[in-house]
Amino acid sequence: MLKFSYKYIVVCLVILSLACDTYARDKCKVGLLIVATGKYIQFVEPLIESARKYFLSDHDVTYFIFTEGVPPAGDDVVQIYQERLGWPYDTMMRYHMYAQHTDIFEDMDYLFATDADMLFVDRVGNEILGERVATQHPGFVGRRGTYEKRSISTAYVAPDEGQCYFAGGFNGGSKDSFLTMANAITEHIVQDLEKNFIAIWHDESHLNRYYIDNPPTVILSPSYCYPESWQLPYQKKLLALDKNHVAVRS
Ligand code: GAL
Ligand code: GAL
Ligand code: MN
Repeated sequence: MLKFSYKYIVVCLVILSLACDTYARDKCKVGLLIVATGKYIQFVEPLIESARKYFLSDHDVTYFIFTEGVPPAGDDVVQIYQERLGWPYDTMMRYHMYAQHTDIFEDMDYLFATDADMLFVDRVGNEILGERVATQHPGFVGRRGTYEKRSISTAYVAPDEGQCYFAGGFNGGSKDSFLTMANAITEHIVQDLEKNFIAIWHDESHLNRYYIDNPPTVILSPSYCYPESWQLPYQKKLLALDKNHVAVRS
Protein backbone atom coordinates (compact mmCIF):
# COMPACT_ATOMS: atom_id res chain seq x y z
CA MET A 1 0.00 0.00 0.00
CA LEU A 2 2.79 2.36 1.00
CA LYS A 3 4.72 1.48 -2.16
CA PHE A 4 1.66 2.10 -4.30
CA SER A 5 1.09 5.53 -2.75
CA TYR A 6 4.69 6.48 -3.32
CA LYS A 7 4.55 5.50 -6.99
CA TYR A 8 1.24 7.20 -7.30
CA ILE A 9 2.63 10.44 -5.91
CA VAL A 10 5.64 10.30 -8.24
CA VAL A 11 3.37 9.74 -11.25
CA CYS A 12 1.19 12.65 -10.16
CA LEU A 13 4.20 14.92 -9.76
CA VAL A 14 5.49 14.00 -13.22
CA ILE A 15 2.10 14.71 -14.78
CA LEU A 16 1.85 17.97 -12.88
CA SER A 17 5.29 19.15 -13.95
CA LEU A 18 4.56 18.24 -17.58
CA ALA A 19 1.31 20.16 -17.37
CA CYS A 20 3.07 23.20 -15.88
CA ASP A 21 5.68 23.03 -18.59
CA THR A 22 3.08 22.95 -21.35
CA TYR A 23 1.22 25.74 -19.62
CA ALA A 24 4.36 27.85 -19.32
CA ARG A 25 5.17 27.28 -22.99
CA ASP A 26 1.63 28.10 -24.04
CA LYS A 27 1.63 31.31 -22.11
CA CYS A 28 2.24 34.16 -24.52
CA LYS A 29 3.34 37.74 -24.14
CA VAL A 30 0.72 39.97 -25.67
CA GLY A 31 0.81 43.73 -26.13
CA LEU A 32 -2.44 45.68 -26.30
CA LEU A 33 -1.81 49.00 -28.05
CA ILE A 34 -4.06 51.92 -27.21
CA VAL A 35 -3.76 55.43 -28.63
CA ALA A 36 -5.40 57.81 -26.18
CA THR A 37 -4.41 61.37 -26.87
CA GLY A 38 -6.40 64.35 -25.58
CA LYS A 39 -9.72 63.49 -23.98
CA TYR A 40 -9.47 59.83 -24.97
CA ILE A 41 -7.34 59.22 -21.89
CA GLN A 42 -10.57 59.08 -19.85
CA PHE A 43 -11.43 55.74 -21.47
CA VAL A 44 -8.18 54.02 -20.63
CA GLU A 45 -8.65 53.12 -16.98
CA PRO A 46 -12.01 51.37 -17.43
CA LEU A 47 -10.72 49.74 -20.63
CA ILE A 48 -7.61 48.31 -18.91
CA GLU A 49 -9.67 47.16 -15.94
CA SER A 50 -12.07 45.34 -18.24
CA ALA A 51 -9.15 43.85 -20.18
CA ARG A 52 -7.48 42.56 -17.01
CA LYS A 53 -10.68 40.68 -16.34
CA TYR A 54 -11.55 39.41 -19.82
CA PHE A 55 -8.72 39.86 -22.35
CA LEU A 56 -6.48 36.80 -22.83
CA SER A 57 -6.41 36.19 -19.11
CA ASP A 58 -4.31 33.00 -19.54
CA HIS A 59 -1.51 35.10 -21.04
CA ASP A 60 0.86 37.86 -20.02
CA VAL A 61 -0.65 41.11 -21.26
CA THR A 62 1.12 44.47 -21.36
CA TYR A 63 -0.82 47.64 -22.07
CA PHE A 64 1.03 50.15 -24.25
CA ILE A 65 -0.64 53.54 -23.94
CA PHE A 66 0.24 56.26 -26.44
CA THR A 67 -0.68 59.53 -24.77
CA GLU A 68 0.51 62.90 -23.59
CA GLY A 69 -1.77 62.41 -20.58
CA VAL A 70 -1.40 60.27 -17.48
CA PRO A 71 -2.30 56.60 -17.92
CA PRO A 72 -3.31 54.53 -14.90
CA ALA A 73 -0.39 53.11 -12.93
CA GLY A 74 0.42 49.40 -13.05
CA ASP A 75 3.26 46.93 -13.62
CA ASP A 76 1.48 45.91 -16.80
CA VAL A 77 1.17 49.46 -18.17
CA VAL A 78 3.78 51.16 -20.39
CA GLN A 79 3.37 54.76 -21.51
CA ILE A 80 4.70 55.98 -24.84
CA TYR A 81 4.69 59.74 -24.94
CA GLN A 82 2.52 60.95 -27.81
CA GLU A 83 1.34 64.49 -28.47
CA ARG A 84 -2.20 65.09 -29.57
CA LEU A 85 -2.22 65.56 -33.36
CA GLY A 86 -5.84 66.64 -33.83
CA TRP A 87 -8.59 64.92 -35.75
CA PRO A 88 -8.23 62.80 -37.90
CA TYR A 89 -4.48 62.43 -37.38
CA ASP A 90 -4.88 60.99 -33.86
CA THR A 91 -6.50 57.93 -35.32
CA MET A 92 -4.90 57.93 -38.78
CA MET A 93 -1.32 58.14 -37.54
CA ARG A 94 -1.72 55.17 -35.19
CA TYR A 95 0.33 52.89 -37.45
CA HIS A 96 3.13 55.46 -37.52
CA MET A 97 3.11 55.45 -33.74
CA TYR A 98 3.33 51.65 -33.60
CA ALA A 99 5.99 51.47 -36.33
CA GLN A 100 8.14 54.10 -34.65
CA HIS A 101 8.40 52.14 -31.42
CA THR A 102 9.04 48.60 -32.58
CA ASP A 103 11.89 48.28 -30.03
CA ILE A 104 9.51 48.39 -27.04
CA PHE A 105 7.53 45.46 -28.47
CA GLU A 106 10.58 43.24 -28.86
CA ASP A 107 9.58 40.77 -26.12
CA MET A 108 6.01 40.39 -27.34
CA ASP A 109 4.66 37.34 -29.19
CA TYR A 110 1.44 39.02 -30.30
CA LEU A 111 0.29 42.59 -30.72
CA PHE A 112 -3.30 43.77 -30.75
CA ALA A 113 -4.63 47.28 -31.16
CA THR A 114 -7.91 48.63 -29.92
CA ASP A 115 -9.59 52.00 -30.09
CA ALA A 116 -9.50 53.70 -26.71
CA ASP A 117 -13.25 54.11 -26.38
CA MET A 118 -13.93 50.42 -25.99
CA LEU A 119 -14.79 48.06 -23.13
CA PHE A 120 -14.40 44.30 -22.74
CA VAL A 121 -17.58 42.71 -21.40
CA ASP A 122 -16.91 39.00 -21.93
CA ARG A 123 -14.06 36.52 -22.24
CA VAL A 124 -11.71 36.97 -25.18
CA GLY A 125 -9.40 33.97 -25.41
CA ASN A 126 -7.12 31.97 -27.68
CA GLU A 127 -9.60 32.18 -30.57
CA ILE A 128 -8.12 35.57 -31.41
CA LEU A 129 -4.50 34.39 -31.64
CA GLY A 130 -3.18 34.17 -35.20
CA GLU A 131 -0.84 35.62 -37.78
CA ARG A 132 -3.16 38.38 -39.06
CA VAL A 133 -6.34 38.93 -37.10
CA ALA A 134 -9.14 41.17 -38.36
CA THR A 135 -12.62 42.01 -37.09
CA GLN A 136 -15.67 42.17 -39.35
CA HIS A 137 -17.10 45.69 -39.24
CA PRO A 138 -20.51 45.57 -37.48
CA GLY A 139 -22.09 47.85 -40.09
CA PHE A 140 -21.26 45.80 -43.16
CA VAL A 141 -21.41 42.12 -42.37
CA GLY A 142 -21.15 40.16 -45.61
CA ARG A 143 -21.03 43.40 -47.62
CA ARG A 144 -18.21 45.34 -49.23
CA GLY A 145 -18.46 48.36 -46.95
CA THR A 146 -17.02 51.83 -47.38
CA TYR A 147 -13.70 51.21 -49.13
CA GLU A 148 -11.73 54.14 -50.56
CA LYS A 149 -13.07 54.52 -54.11
CA ARG A 150 -10.80 57.30 -55.36
CA SER A 151 -7.93 55.86 -57.36
CA ILE A 152 -5.51 58.63 -56.32
CA SER A 153 -5.21 56.86 -52.95
CA THR A 154 -2.93 53.97 -52.04
CA ALA A 155 -6.00 52.70 -50.16
CA TYR A 156 -8.01 52.51 -53.41
CA VAL A 157 -10.17 49.43 -53.81
CA ALA A 158 -11.54 48.69 -57.29
CA PRO A 159 -15.22 47.71 -57.73
CA ASP A 160 -14.28 44.08 -58.38
CA GLU A 161 -12.09 43.81 -55.28
CA GLY A 162 -12.89 43.19 -51.61
CA GLN A 163 -15.58 41.04 -50.07
CA CYS A 164 -15.46 41.67 -46.36
CA TYR A 165 -15.11 45.06 -44.69
CA PHE A 166 -13.03 45.17 -41.52
CA ALA A 167 -13.27 47.49 -38.53
CA GLY A 168 -10.40 49.78 -37.64
CA GLY A 169 -11.25 49.46 -33.95
CA PHE A 170 -9.76 46.05 -33.11
CA ASN A 171 -7.15 43.99 -34.90
CA GLY A 172 -3.83 42.31 -34.33
CA GLY A 173 -1.59 39.39 -35.04
CA SER A 174 1.82 37.96 -34.40
CA LYS A 175 4.30 40.69 -33.51
CA ASP A 176 6.17 40.41 -36.81
CA SER A 177 3.07 40.34 -39.00
CA PHE A 178 1.51 43.20 -37.12
CA LEU A 179 4.61 45.38 -37.42
CA THR A 180 5.03 44.48 -41.10
CA MET A 181 1.47 45.70 -41.59
CA ALA A 182 2.10 48.84 -39.52
CA ASN A 183 5.11 49.70 -41.71
CA ALA A 184 3.21 49.13 -44.95
CA ILE A 185 0.20 51.19 -43.86
CA THR A 186 2.48 53.97 -42.60
CA GLU A 187 4.17 54.13 -45.98
CA HIS A 188 0.84 54.23 -47.82
CA ILE A 189 -0.53 56.99 -45.60
CA VAL A 190 2.63 59.05 -46.12
CA GLN A 191 2.31 58.62 -49.90
CA ASP A 192 -1.30 59.84 -49.73
CA LEU A 193 -0.36 62.79 -47.50
CA GLU A 194 2.33 63.80 -49.99
CA LYS A 195 -0.54 64.23 -52.45
CA ASN A 196 -2.52 66.06 -49.78
CA PHE A 197 -4.96 63.20 -49.71
CA ILE A 198 -6.69 61.57 -46.73
CA ALA A 199 -8.64 58.37 -47.35
CA ILE A 200 -12.33 58.35 -46.52
CA TRP A 201 -12.02 56.35 -43.29
CA HIS A 202 -8.43 57.24 -42.51
CA ASP A 203 -6.41 54.31 -41.16
CA GLU A 204 -9.42 51.98 -41.57
CA SER A 205 -9.38 52.50 -45.37
CA HIS A 206 -5.69 51.58 -45.51
CA LEU A 207 -6.25 48.63 -43.23
CA ASN A 208 -8.90 47.31 -45.60
CA ARG A 209 -6.64 47.73 -48.63
CA TYR A 210 -3.90 45.89 -46.73
CA TYR A 211 -6.19 42.98 -45.89
CA ILE A 212 -7.17 42.59 -49.54
CA ASP A 213 -3.50 42.17 -50.40
CA ASN A 214 -2.66 40.20 -47.25
CA PRO A 215 -5.78 38.31 -46.20
CA PRO A 216 -6.39 37.85 -42.48
CA THR A 217 -5.73 34.35 -41.16
CA VAL A 218 -8.35 34.86 -38.43
CA ILE A 219 -11.59 36.77 -39.05
CA LEU A 220 -13.44 37.74 -35.89
CA SER A 221 -17.17 38.40 -35.81
CA PRO A 222 -18.55 41.83 -34.84
CA SER A 223 -18.60 40.51 -31.25
CA TYR A 224 -15.17 42.14 -31.03
CA CYS A 225 -16.29 45.59 -32.15
CA TYR A 226 -19.90 45.64 -30.99
CA PRO A 227 -21.46 49.13 -30.94
CA GLU A 228 -22.82 49.63 -27.42
CA SER A 229 -26.35 50.67 -28.37
CA TRP A 230 -26.87 48.42 -31.41
CA GLN A 231 -28.83 45.16 -31.43
CA LEU A 232 -26.93 42.54 -33.38
CA PRO A 233 -27.19 38.76 -33.47
CA TYR A 234 -23.72 38.43 -31.93
CA GLN A 235 -22.47 37.95 -28.42
CA LYS A 236 -21.07 41.13 -26.88
CA LYS A 237 -17.37 40.77 -26.13
CA LEU A 238 -15.70 44.08 -26.91
CA LEU A 239 -18.02 47.08 -26.95
CA ALA A 240 -17.42 50.17 -29.05
CA LEU A 241 -18.78 52.75 -26.63
CA ASP A 242 -21.33 55.35 -27.62
CA LYS A 243 -19.76 58.72 -27.29
CA ASN A 244 -20.21 62.26 -28.29
CA HIS A 245 -17.64 62.35 -31.10
CA VAL A 246 -17.45 66.11 -31.39
CA ALA A 247 -16.89 66.58 -27.66
CA VAL A 248 -14.24 63.85 -27.38
CA ARG A 249 -12.34 64.75 -30.54
CA SER A 250 -12.03 68.46 -29.70
C1 GAL B 1 -10.04 57.95 -32.20
C2 GAL B 1 -10.05 56.50 -31.77
C3 GAL B 1 -9.59 56.44 -30.35
C4 GAL B 1 -8.26 57.15 -30.16
C5 GAL B 1 -8.31 58.55 -30.71
C6 GAL B 1 -6.98 59.26 -30.63
O1 GAL B 1 -10.44 58.00 -33.53
O2 GAL B 1 -11.36 55.99 -31.86
O3 GAL B 1 -9.46 55.12 -29.95
O4 GAL B 1 -7.29 56.40 -30.83
O5 GAL B 1 -8.75 58.52 -32.05
O6 GAL B 1 -6.55 59.43 -29.34
C1 GAL C 1 -18.99 53.79 -38.83
C2 GAL C 1 -17.89 53.88 -37.78
C3 GAL C 1 -16.66 54.54 -38.38
C4 GAL C 1 -16.25 53.83 -39.65
C5 GAL C 1 -17.43 53.77 -40.61
C6 GAL C 1 -17.08 53.06 -41.89
O1 GAL C 1 -20.06 53.05 -38.31
O2 GAL C 1 -18.33 54.67 -36.70
O3 GAL C 1 -15.61 54.51 -37.44
O4 GAL C 1 -15.83 52.54 -39.34
O5 GAL C 1 -18.52 53.12 -39.99
O6 GAL C 1 -18.11 53.23 -42.83
MN1 MN D 1 -13.99 54.45 -31.54
